[in-house]
Amino acid sequence: MKIAIFGASGATGRLLTKRCFDAGYEVTALLRHPETFPLRIAVHAVNGSVFDPAAVAQTIEGADVVLSALGAKSLKKEDVLERAVPVIVAAMQQKGVRRIIVLGSAGAKPDALDKQPAWRRWIVEHLVYNTFLKWPVASQRAQYAALSASDLDWTMAMPPMLTNSRGRGKWRIDPDALPPNASRISREDVADFMMQQINNPQWIKKAVYIAW
Ligand SMILES: NC(=O)c1ccc[n+]([C@@H]2O[C@H](COP(=O)([O-])OP(=O)(O)OC[C@H]3O[C@@H](n4cnc5c(N)ncnc54)[C@H](OP(=O)(O)O)[C@@H]3O)[C@@H](O)[C@H]2O)c1
Repeated sequence: MKIAIFGASGATGRLLTKRCFDAGYEVTALLRHPETFPLRIAVHAVNGSVFDPAAVAQTIEGADVVLSALGAKSLKKEDVLERAVPVIVAAMQQKGVRRIIVLGSAGAKPDALDKQPAWRRWIVEHLVYNTFLKWPVASQRAQYAALSASDLDWTMAMPPMLTNSRGRGKWRIDPDALPPNASRISREDVADFMMQQINNPQWIKKAVYIAW
């Protein structure tokens, strides 16, 4: 199995890369700083930015599956996903690669809070999604729009707050809304779910909420 990965150097990306390596997959990672990437011996590194179509095409060449755990460095307006996802989608279409599994976020879709109590819905919507996380949420909405407008076999995992704690090996999945009282999940569990999707067609062309 050949995997192309974007965001491999990030907190979730490193977990995904390690899991791919442990599974015996051949991994190509697009890295801005391959020399400092701790798992560099486990990957074929392409040096560059995800905004560069040539570097993205080189990363995707020959891949069976694309993984992405891209994100901005700050909570400010950086437009990483707004710019990167269309480049990745175009490269996949050009290279005939169909399957992509991405890290999204719960704010990516307007139905996220439909199963929360009214007080919680108000707080998260007004104080979190529309203010504190305004720009990351806008980026995730753009990622969802670009994937769902494509003809690719995409899956988007949409967690609420991510933690660096140990995975529990179990989680709740809901394609309609965040499960009731869902507030967090570890990056390890999200990475495990994303890895499982490599051989699971169930959530193709779907964005699914995932939470403890
Ligand atoms: N934090 C949360 O609680 C939370 C909750 C739900 C969803 N999310 C979503 O999770 C994602 C972040 O996950 P994370 O915290 O695991 O990641 P992270 O540690 O922030 O890593 C982001 C990755 O994106 C890469 N990247 C950014 N711009 C790039 C560019 N131009 N070219 C190549 N690579 C680039 C970074 O590479 P460099 O190492 O080169 O910078 C890094 O590998 C975001 O999309 C966010 O919306 C976060």
